Amino acid sequence: SSAFDHALESLRAGEPILVHDAADREGETDLIYHADAVTPDAVARLRNDAGGLVCVALGHDVAETFDLPFYSEAVDHPATADHELGYDDRSSFSLTVNHRDTYTGITDEDRSTTIQALGEAAATPEATDFADEFRVPGHVHLLKGAPNLLAQREGHTELALALAEAADQSSAIVVCEMLDDDTGEALSPDDAHAYAERHDFAYLEGQDVLERLGNATRQ
Ligand code: 5RP
Ligand code: CA
Ligand code: ZN
Ligand code: ZN
Repeated sequence: SSAFDHALESLRAGEPILVHDAADREGETDLIYHADAVTPDAVARLRNDAGGLVCVALGHDVAETFDLPFYSEAVDHPATADHELGYDDRSSFSLTVNHRDTYTGITDEDRSTTIQALGEAAATPEATDFADEFRVPGHVHLLKGAPNLLAQREGHTELALALAEAADQSSAIVVCEMLDDDTGEALSPDDAHAYAERHDFAYLEGQDVLERLGNATRQ
């Protein structure tokens, strides 16, 4: 089967996938799991093998139902006024959260608890009392998808959410940048691809996702 089909099957099976956005964007490869599949071992893989920031991307409608804003719009501070990035018009950051059943929030067990609960909440947003279940700030970064997903933004946030949708999963998906342990730079696409091969994980280019889903995911 194609790498694309392998990726959808992997997400459904609880396996991680890798997605490189584009050389002329961040030039990063994110390690990605559906939120429902995240266990303490998965959090350990994210921090050991990926090493970037562990984030959960929520679909725009889900985030709106939970009253979650974009961070830059919610925080009135001079540093959020001019939100300039080299690679996109804006970041997708929302708030940070911990599930209320966690203690510090950072352990593998705690982050797994928070992330799994986000997956469940995203499956039934209307039945979720977000503030009753989660506290802000916390140790899991939330990202909020663009309203019209890939038609509006081509970040890992939207690429991952479009893949979750294509896999018939809820709109809560974990992304974490893969960094090179030796250089501290983004892991090169060649090294990311070799990691994927070693573990039999699917590796996709953002362009592949855009070609398959770029027109099919407008809400
Ligand atoms: C948060 C990030 C990551 O790059 C993540 O992939 C989400 O950002 P984007 O949608 O812009 O790619 O910076 O750790
Ligand atoms: Ca490492
Ligand atoms: Zn990214
Ligand atoms: Zn990034």
